[in-house]
Amino acid sequence: MLTNLAQQPADALLALIKLYNADPRADKVDLGVGVYRTGQGDTPVFAAVKAAERKLVETQTSKAYLGPEGDMGFVHALMPYVFSAEDPAMGGRIDGMQTPGGTGAVRLAVALAKKAGVRRVWMGVPSWPNHAQIVADLGLELKTFAHATADGAADLAALEGALDQAEAGDAVLLHGCCHNPTGIDYTPAQWDAIAARLADGKVLPLLDLAYQGLGQGMEDDAYGVRKVLGAVTEAIIAYSCDKNFGVYRDRVGAVYAMTADATQTQAVLSNGHALARAAWSMPPDHGGAAVRLVLEDEALVRQWLDELDTMRARMRQVRDRLAATGRIGSLDLAPIGSQNGLFAMLALSPEQILALRNDHGIYMAGSGRINIAGLTSGNIDKFIAALAEVAG
Ligand code: LMR
Repeated sequence: MLTNLAQQPADALLALIKLYNADPRADKVDLGVGVYRTGQGDTPVFAAVKAAERKLVETQTSKAYLGPEGDMGFVHALMPYVFSAEDPAMGGRIDGMQTPGGTGAVRLAVALAKKAGVRRVWMGVPSWPNHAQIVADLGLELKTFAHATADGAADLAALEGALDQAEAGDAVLLHGCCHNPTGIDYTPAQWDAIAARLADGKVLPLLDLAYQGLGQGMEDDAYGVRKVLGAVTEAIIAYSCDKNFGVYRDRVGAVYAMTADATQTQAVLSNGHALARAAWSMPPDHGGAAVRLVLEDEALVRQWLDELDTMRARMRQVRDRLAATGRIGSLDLAPIGSQNGLFAMLALSPEQILALRNDHGIYMAGSGRINIAGLTSGNIDKFIAALAEVAG
């Protein structure tokens, strides 16, 4: 039987990590996978998370099983940041469960949609490659529309056209903020229009919020999600703490469901528990527990938010520097200044991307996506000079 399975290519983005590590050049530049880096190129553990981890080691008395929902203290502690602080559960209409990272959250969100009867998912492209893989792996049909216009704005008309074409019972997957890979987010006015369009309930919103706090700030980055949830009766929200708490490999995420009433929300989550039980049984505890301990401690919350501020300021500096560079041949870096989050897309050909890697030791995704945080004062000049050489 097993000879039926042909060799599969490694995931291109994750394979890039190994290629980069194997490159002996001292001045190589990693603009690949989406992890934040300091000006020194490191991805340190947040000080607030370290402190919480110390507390966890000292106070945790058992590692006995929790259940498929994971650490509900973590799930609930996060809610005032994601949803409205006044009534995060919207009278019990919103509740959630812990998942293994943002991928587990998206997987469960799409699986729940499928179990509820969704057969087609609409999604703006380009998107995070794993979105399409998850939709395909669950046997759903993917319908795409353009995420951005040629001049670098989020393409509201394309989304509205897709919603026109969608049939009742389809789902639409939207990035809450810091669009991956383009960095191009819907504006607040566009979110207002999207929320109004989704209000008829024809299409189920699947909202992926994986980078809250890395764009404009925790509050501003929740604008779209909150706006949509204020307008619709039902939605599923996939959340990742992997970036905004820097706990990538600990896999910390959550999926939330919103329905018309608390009883139905709990029914949806009971399906989530069953799906989780059959997939991973229960999520890993450590990272979620550490995040909970941060959120339960006012001083640690302040420290965490300060650390997020520092990250955002650094990414903004890099964006400003690239934007100030303006045009390099046919490449226009100016729009990068007004985009958000870890990523930007460069309109480079596969040959140019390969030349950057082979000739300059600069690693980026095959799509032309760069991780803004991979650029530092020590390598940004080299990067711009290399771009001028391959694309100028
Ligand atoms: C990325 O897009 O680089 C991150 O979300 C990491 C991942 O899992 O792909």
